[in-house]
Amino acid sequence: MSENVITPPSAPVVVLDHPLVQHKLTRLRQASTSTAGFRRLTREISLLMAYEATRDLPLETVEIETPLEHMEGRLLSGKKLCLVSILRAGNGILDGMLDLLPAARVGHIGLFRDPESLEPVEYYMKLPEDIDVRVCIVVDPMLATGHSAAAAIDRLKTAGARQLVFVCLLAAPEGVAFLSAAHPDVKIITCSIDRELDEHGYIRPGLGDAGDRLFGTK
Ligand code: URA
Repeated sequence: MSENVITPPSAPVVVLDHPLVQHKLTRLRQASTSTAGFRRLTREISLLMAYEATRDLPLETVEIETPLEHMEGRLLSGKKLCLVSILRAGNGILDGMLDLLPAARVGHIGLFRDPESLEPVEYYMKLPEDIDVRVCIVVDPMLATGHSAAAAIDRLKTAGARQLVFVCLLAAPEGVAFLSAAHPDVKIITCSIDRELDEHGYIRPGLGDAGDRLFGTK
């Protein structure tokens, strides 16, 4: 008897082609952009990414009074959010997202790569207790190999998270393929899928090291 294997449909990969996003991304890529400029642009573009990441939030109908008449309006139906930053560069995306989503809870996950096993090792994780009822927006500016993103999402699922979106500024095709294969239920939102990952793990043409550019550490 043949078994009926149902493969869940892969969540979409969304590339934000809005002119404002593309303009800000190009400014971010430029080597001549200062640390202050890089931070400001990241904050602005993150607000726009948050707009896309919350596109599927459910609404409920409410009866309201305008100054002129009664009407049915729509409000968010109370779905709770959690932004999860993959340390350290993910923190650069939080500020802009929190401008738009001031009531969201924030979690942090820190991972490093074990030099021998090459496996991601967790060194920090702090999440809200009710992560299971929250839509988690996981943020890291660069989806390079996809290994940290997949490992962070593994840990979030183990902690109970059930609804997740991954948001980055730039993605390498390799990172998109790895993350989509590891977590086909997780929608990826990015401002660009660049050409490739180089032999040093940098996205090309990319924008360099996002953490160094955000925090001025180089
Ligand atoms: N992380 C970065 O900061 N930049 C890359 O290009 C790849 C990973």
